[in-house]
Amino acid sequence: MTRHPVEPFRIKAIEPIALLPRRDREHKLADAGCNLFNIRAEDVFIDLLTDSGTSAMSERQWGGLMRGDESYAGCRNFFHLEEVVRNLTGYQHVIPTHQGRAAEHLVFSLLLEKGDFVVSNTHFDTTRANVLYRGATPVDLPDPSCDDVAGEYPFKGDIDCARLETFLDEHPGRVKVCVLTITNNSVGGQPLSVANARTASAICRKHHVPLLFDAARFAENAWFVSQREESQRGRPVKEIARTIFDFGDGCLMSAKKDGLVNIGGFIAVKDPEFAARIKEALVIFEGFHTYGGLAGRDLEAVACGLEEVTNPDYLAYRAGQVEWLGNRLAEAGATIVRPVGGHAVFIDAGALYPQIPPGEFPGQTLAVALYREGGIRTVEIGSLMFGEIDPETHEPIYPPHELVRLAIPRRVYTESHLEYVARTFAAIFAKRESAGGFAIEYQSPFLRHFTARLRELPANTHARVART
Ligand code: F0G
Repeated sequence: MTRHPVEPFRIKAIEPIALLPRRDREHKLADAGCNLFNIRAEDVFIDLLTDSGTSAMSERQWGGLMRGDESYAGCRNFFHLEEVVRNLTGYQHVIPTHQGRAAEHLVFSLLLEKGDFVVSNTHFDTTRANVLYRGATPVDLPDPSCDDVAGEYPFKGDIDCARLETFLDEHPGRVKVCVLTITNNSVGGQPLSVANARTASAICRKHHVPLLFDAARFAENAWFVSQREESQRGRPVKEIARTIFDFGDGCLMSAKKDGLVNIGGFIAVKDPEFAARIKEALVIFEGFHTYGGLAGRDLEAVACGLEEVTNPDYLAYRAGQVEWLGNRLAEAGATIVRPVGGHAVFIDAGALYPQIPPGEFPGQTLAVALYREGGIRTVEIGSLMFGEIDPETHEPIYPPHELVRLAIPRRVYTESHLEYVARTFAAIFAKRESAGGFAIEYQSPFLRHFTARLRELPANTHARVART
């Protein structure tokens, strides 16, 4: 059993957290309609809802906030950020945005029209939504290895290059951009290899399709490459990241992940004409092109965060911590997505609760149980989030897996916090056979998981049916 890595930092400021008494947690759940998005953060003990915007900043970043230059145009922090991003990516034109989806909105509003296609290893939800919002169609072409939840393939985040080539051949001129998401969040925070980026890039070039990286977790991706890809083994993470960026025409970045900040993002591109068009739109939607919807101090924090995130001691700790939690949960009985991803552990709730059908949301059963047992907040990534009704047959369509994501904020929780999470899971595992599912009482037409209200179904009905 691998040990929890020693944190390569010590704690200088603390934020108190408290576990509410069990009765209060029950009340909070009832008030929230059993939807953890409706629970106040202060009523959560360990918050694993997302790794986005939840990082702890370093002393250098906090110091950087005081160096914020709040001039409207040309603040010094922009030039710091520009230099860091140019150095990291090689892309000369750097355009700040307030977060990742603002970057998506700007770029897609310039590139896409009704009827166009975007291809990707997998679009993250907001990316998909921004493509659809333009009347275009997002096409996911993930590597087939990601279908095998427990299979230990090193690069489940790859794009399926054979299908990419076929799709581009069959839709000449209709695919306006290829987006490679690194790491591939939606398939479990899995990395994409240098070899795959090279091949995908060559295919895109041949078909004159621009290639952009969704680089939210580029450093975690480069770390995995340094550990798993023979030809890249042992190369510095920064060099690997640069090798990958060199295959593209630009990137979109939510700095709320590997920027190690609470807010921020940017677009970086090679083409000066495209950059000029983005800046024209930016000033309408986000702000002048040297601040893009952020304060000068925020830009400074992003610049410092990007300088810190490729540190190998940090990345070894980061990946080691997430893997450690995955292994502890597996020891406690969980079936998890393997290999453990860069930012989160994904538990297969369908395997945990075979008695609960997808239409009764086994993932939500686990997410609610983690809050009820231990005040832990996670997110269901299964039929509640992605279930649909077939417009023709009116039959429900369920996603292939019923997962729960335990996303780990960066530099925030210690070994004992995560040990507590594993212990809580063990208690839930012991009672798994008597667990029941949920029915939806209220849902909105889009992104229903954010606002749905749910009712608990009587426990054990299916288990009893199964046994008789
Ligand atoms: N791209 C990826 C791969 C993401 O994971 C996210 C956000 C975004 C883009 C959008 O960035 O939030 O700054 O607008 N992911 C968060 C998550 C919300 O919980 O996985 P944003």
